[in-house]
Amino acid sequence: MVRLGAAWYPEQWPEAQWDHDLQLMQDAHMNVVRVGEFAWSTLEPSEGRFELDWLDRAIALAAKHHIAVVIGTPTDAPPAWLTEKYPDTLGMNADGQWRQHGERRQFNYASPRYRQLCALIVAQLARRFGQNPNVIGWQIGNEYSDESFDPSTRALFQQFLRDKYKTLNNLNHQWSTAYWSQTYTSWSQIPMKNSNENPGLLLDHKHFVTATWRSFQRAQIDVLRPLILPTQFITTNIGGLGWSDNWDHYAITADLDLASWDDYVGQGHLDVTRNAMLNDFVRGWKRQNFWVMETEPGSVNWAPVNNALWPGETRALAWQTIGHGADAVLYWQWRSALNGQEQYHGAIVGPDGEPLPIYSEIAQLGKDLELTRDALAGTGPHAKIAILHDYDSRWAIDFQPFTKDYDQEQVLLRFYQPLEKIAAANGQAVDIIDPTSSVDLARYKLLVAPSLNVISAELAAKLLAYVRQGGTLILGPRSGMKDEFNSLNPQRQPGPLAEALGAKVGQYYALEKPVQLSNPDHPTVPVTTPGVLGTADTWAEQLSIDSPAMEINAIYDDPGGWLDGKPAFVSRAIGKGLIAYLGTLPDPKLLHTFLMLSSPQVPKLVFPGQDAIEQCTRYGPSGSVSIYINHGSEAVSIPLQRPMRNLLSSNATPVSEITLPPQGVAVLVPEKTQ
Ligand code: GAL
Repeated sequence: MVRLGAAWYPEQWPEAQWDHDLQLMQDAHMNVVRVGEFAWSTLEPSEGRFELDWLDRAIALAAKHHIAVVIGTPTDAPPAWLTEKYPDTLGMNADGQWRQHGERRQFNYASPRYRQLCALIVAQLARRFGQNPNVIGWQIGNEYSDESFDPSTRALFQQFLRDKYKTLNNLNHQWSTAYWSQTYTSWSQIPMKNSNENPGLLLDHKHFVTATWRSFQRAQIDVLRPLILPTQFITTNIGGLGWSDNWDHYAITADLDLASWDDYVGQGHLDVTRNAMLNDFVRGWKRQNFWVMETEPGSVNWAPVNNALWPGETRALAWQTIGHGADAVLYWQWRSALNGQEQYHGAIVGPDGEPLPIYSEIAQLGKDLELTRDALAGTGPHAKIAILHDYDSRWAIDFQPFTKDYDQEQVLLRFYQPLEKIAAANGQAVDIIDPTSSVDLARYKLLVAPSLNVISAELAAKLLAYVRQGGTLILGPRSGMKDEFNSLNPQRQPGPLAEALGAKVGQYYALEKPVQLSNPDHPTVPVTTPGVLGTADTWAEQLSIDSPAMEINAIYDDPGGWLDGKPAFVSRAIGKGLIAYLGTLPDPKLLHTFLMLSSPQVPKLVFPGQDAIEQCTRYGPSGSVSIYINHGSEAVSIPLQRPMRNLLSSNATPVSEITLPPQGVAVLVPEKTQ
């Protein structure tokens, strides 16, 4: 079942009002609430005095309204008594300032004492609610975000490096510390910073931050797991709009049953392709469906201008996330606290406890989900195309972007946009996956790696095996420049893949303005019409060819410049597959052509030009479900390839065309499955 709910904070309201809240939720067809994640001072008002009865009563009352509960462990907001008694649990910001009580997240994620105190409260909650059938899951903390730069954490970082490198000689070698006389003669000399340091150190610091959040999380999982029902899941809600790179999301979610994230628009309106990409990105963390643990009920309070989403847009956003694999959508928040930092944030009911205008739209979504419950059960997106993404590459580029214009989210988006259209037209999704994980690459027909900057020998072998067995791999700019220590590969890009590719990067250039791309004089592949193909911008690599088997698909047209006449896009058949290297960022239309060229097995778009319509398909044991959303401002009629039944319509007759108003949604099933 796809669930609908909200973050509910019963501790902020008189108990006599709870039933009214829950009745309104039930009336809106909501069936889940998340509670407790900031309630430490209510759950443990003083050290060792636990007061859990109120939460027990809240969970029982929710059950009466058929509303299941996810309990958030309250460890993102330690109470004042804790901070006062144990100042050693405080974290330090990168600028050397100790954090203090008064906001949230003042704790040090690495502090053993803080972890112990967390374990105590989590154990109390798990003992009390771990066997409660109305509790369906647990969220650990809330949006892990702030690392600590205090001296004790720095000592842990040094120990982390010691465990990794074993000897200082090894560390000095991998970080090339002879440079600028950085050579370390004792572990305690190694600094811990997050800017302008040796790139090897910066990458290891990210690994340390990931490992530390992972062990912070592990400490709570280890308390929860033995005490809770096997049916109760453990997750954490990931913030930073999904895209943050504070730590490695693949590694953190590896220890969880379920990935979940917080999908906010902020200022403006839904950026359809970007939000589609982010949801696919989240689905890739565990390569399975996920939850949207928080989203905005129309507006937030933290954007420069906290405008409201248009009528219908909140529902369209929810359906988009479901189309991309969300199995739950929860709003933040049900009702705003009377005081506190977020008084202006969007909510579903007002401070008087009565519905705000957005309530009816969310209730409509609730009705939708009831109508589609059986059809959506057990379904999820399928992909034959994957984009390769990994954090080492992300970090390595962001530490030294070389041009401020190389915004990796935008680069990913540029590749994602045409790929998503190609995939969607075939009833497919695009996966965004970490190639260094245990994923079986053979399940994909096409792999595209926009900025795979770090390629170890092991990863190169895996990618090459994929190509030899019949896969198509397109490497994008900046591929294979670095090894896993963030050192330059001694071979030219793409490093360990250069030999097999039969081409390499002669030089890379940050572009001040777009450059033209054209067909080579003797095109070996009929790209499009002869002559100018389009433009490319931001980044350009001049490729040189080492093998006659190489096909040159595009060259730069840069009279008087370094790039003139040099290959920009090359490809080569290897084994049963194809490897290609694209050294620049072509304009969207040309990139689409290149991607189609490299994947001739994918047919053309079904609805060219109808960009406002998003089509997502989920598959399950009893067939497929197609979700169509009109994100545009005009009504659109969509011809269907076969008769389908719209589960959201009162008309049960199968139709061969649907018309969607702006923000309209249809959920269609093929006639035969009914
Ligand atoms: C999230 C956070 C919530 C709330 C929300 C407001 O990042 O997890 O607690 O602050 O933002 O948009």
